[in-house]
Amino acid sequence: MRKIIMPEWISVGVLSERTGVSVSALHFYERKGLIKSQRNTSNHRQYPKHVIRIVSLIQVAQRTGFSLEDILLELEGLPNRTRVTLEDWEALGSRWQSELDRKITQLTELKNMMADCIGCGCLSLERCRLLNPYDELGEKGTGPRLMTE
Ligand code: FES
Repeated sequence: MRKIIMPEWISVGVLSERTGVSVSALHFYERKGLIKSQRNTSNHRQYPKHVIRIVSLIQVAQRTGFSLEDILLELEGLPNRTRVTLEDWEALGSRWQSELDRKITQLTELKNMMADCIGCGCLSLERCRLLNPYDELGEKGTGPRLMTE
């Protein structure tokens, strides 16, 4: 089998083909600062080949519910953005897993609260945990808190 050697710099078309991300989405990522290109002598955008891995990371993070702003913060925290290492991936994966666990716990709690509300419809500030979780409004004092805040 012949081994295909990837050039150091690739076009946006090749990057799109290799990652499955549309050219317009790649340009959007670039406008957001997630990836960077440089112009060649023909004034075409060229991406260093390591960007394939960064785009893959962005896809994984987006699929797990992270915003592009969160992803940018994480990428900016990498020791070297030109080479995402296995250690970088493990550290990012571990942080994202913790965040996912937190979201799952929060959503499960919300789902359980909603179960109490299905078929009720009272939307009572005293009774409904969805409308007033943990009676947060009650801790702020008595009276019509929603009307005055
Ligand atoms: S709607 Fe009645 S408890 Fe939430």
